[in-house]
Amino acid sequence: MEKILIAGPASQILGVKIAQELGIESINTEGKTFPDGENYIRINIEDETLIAGKEVIIVQSTGPSASANQNARLMELFMMIDSVKRMGALKIIVVAPYLAYARQDKIFRPGESQFGNAIFNIINNFGINEFYAVDVHAPIILNECSCKAINIDSMKLLADYIKSLGAKDIVVVAPDKGAIERSSAFANYFGENVPVEVFEKERDVKTGEIKMSGSLNLNDKDVVIADDIIATGGTMATAIKLAKANGARKVFAVATHALLLQQAKYRILKAGVDEIIGTDSIDNEVCRVSLAKIIADYLK
Ligand code: R5P
Repeated sequence: MEKILIAGPASQILGVKIAQELGIESINTEGKTFPDGENYIRINIEDETLIAGKEVIIVQSTGPSASANQNARLMELFMMIDSVKRMGALKIIVVAPYLAYARQDKIFRPGESQFGNAIFNIINNFGINEFYAVDVHAPIILNECSCKAINIDSMKLLADYIKSLGAKDIVVVAPDKGAIERSSAFANYFGENVPVEVFEKERDVKTGEIKMSGSLNLNDKDVVIADDIIATGGTMATAIKLAKANGARKVFAVATHALLLQQAKYRILKAGVDEIIGTDSIDNEVCRVSLAKIIADYLK
């Protein structure tokens, strides 16, 4: 079946790169927000038969940026799926490198919505064929997807980049218990005996305030702090300060999804980081590693 890729407004660069890796044509979109706040999106074609009968890959990250928030990005994604379905796509593959709402995978306080799971009720209703995301906060939520759903692991790419910087005597530090599994898998990419340490983090579920503690021997070590997301940078900045206070020589702050909201970059730099390292899951200025090839490899 012939394939075509649609690079959604949130993933224009990544979308084109994936299409180039796959050797297929890519199309972009045009969009706007109506005066009443509703989203509008149109796939940039004049001839709808370009879509009919094809396998259509929609690449649209759903992270926040200066130009749109998660809700708008999700709405655009739903609208693109709806368009290609109407135009007669035979197979629809969705690639959402950053999956919005994935951190709302649990009930933390009575009365909440478990929307990280519920979002798949909406996606399932569209009847897509395959779904791909990268380093989902809690990959178990992909079980809610009724079609094939894959969590792509970007950690080898990130580890290879850090190795290329000449980091030595590496210790991987998980900033909280939730990051231990990911950090352990990450450490394996540096070598068999690379240690994984963990800090204790408590976040006030009402205020979001973080408290972190931990006493480790990081003297003369290059510390890699690995997390899935840097949002406000509170977790990362606190972990960096603690790693430095515990003797770390260099500290690399690594996250697949570097949202870098509010004062995140300032906070992390001020905490003494040597480099912030992210991917192009969303457009950001600390992207050191592109996901294009690894995503394309899954789509081949
Ligand atoms: C939380 O469990 C996540 O893995 C990240 O640690 C968190 O989302 C980072 O948020 P922030 O940068 O606002 O501390």
